[in-house]
Amino acid sequence: MNATQILSEEHQNILKVIAAIEKECEKLDSGQKIDEDFFTRSIDFIRNYADKFHHAKEEDILFKEFCKDTSKVHCNPVDQMLHEHNVGREFVKGMEKNIKNKDKKKLAENARGYARLLQEHIFKEDNILYPMTDEAIDEKRQKSMLKQFDEAEKKFSKGTKEKYVKLAKEFETRK
Ligand SMILES: [Fe+2]
Ligand SMILES: [Fe+2]
Repeated sequence: MNATQILSEEHQNILKVIAAIEKECEKLDSGQKIDEDFFTRSIDFIRNYADKFHHAKEEDILFKEFCKDTSKVHCNPVDQMLHEHNVGREFVKGMEKNIKNKDKKKLAENARGYARLLQEHIFKEDNILYPMTDEAIDEKRQKSMLKQFDEAEKKFSKGTKEKYVKLAKEFETRK
């Protein structure tokens, strides 16, 4: 297992929650009222798992390691990836605001914006950035990244990862 494999596995959990969010947006379109509990739990997952748990490892460890030596790569997508993380955070703020305002249309707009952004973002990381990283970073540095990942995960309270993996599983089978 290397660092990018760990991150790709996390992507799978994020995609499960995104799929559930898209389903919920369709319900909003067809006139159902806002399921506050669902959206609040989704936002909690996005902020604490997708952003703090996952993006933190990318931003503080993987991206930094990749940027140390880009002499052998033909392009550096890191700035674009960082930009997309920020755009995602704005969509989440928009979701939160429109749950409070009970504005279905704007909630769905922001939720779908987040979903599409992250689907494309994850595709780019899995298929472009991560393979580039694996090629550019030698075994010794790969091992050091794994160590840093461990350290980063230790900063979260016990059971954090399990809690959100469980939520993703639950949302995967949500009707
Ligand atoms: Fe990312
Ligand atoms: Fe990612």
